[in-house]
Amino acid sequence: MSESEKKDPRVTRRLFCQATGLSACAAAAGGTGILSIDFLRPRALFEPPTRFALGPPDAMETGSVVTDEDHRVIVARRADGFRALSSICTHLGCITRYQPDAGVIACPCHGSRFSLDGEVIGGPAPRPLHWLEMSVSDKGLILVDTAVEVPQGTVFKL
Ligand code: FES
Repeated sequence: MSESEKKDPRVTRRLFCQATGLSACAAAAGGTGILSIDFLRPRALFEPPTRFALGPPDAMETGSVVTDEDHRVIVARRADGFRALSSICTHLGCITRYQPDAGVIACPCHGSRFSLDGEVIGGPAPRPLHWLEMSVSDKGLILVDTAVEVPQGTVFKL
């Protein structure tokens, strides 16, 4: 066996550079692949549905008011039917609250007050609260759609 045929157990400079270069290329390819997959994911925002079930009609007695803070809706049942009002103040968008003692909907920000028909009865709000579409589901539940406004005074009757 010649001297050149003997295997040198040490890592040569060439071998070290090749291994380092291949490792760097593999890392770059992996990173690029991960970023490419992430880039292909849709950037759409999936918002919750605007229509939601409030509950069965019998759960609300005539004269009662239900506030759904998650959906920013106030539903009132009166003798002539239901009305669903957006609880978003028409002044600067604060969230109004029903005040049972006074029987009004009040805005905590600048003091606007609304009737249970959404009419402005005080404060800086320039317009009534928005009325929202109501319907009944196949299962007999009251549905409210926060994305569909109806003309003021559109009372929902069963
Ligand atoms: S935001 Fe309601 S009164 Fe100003």
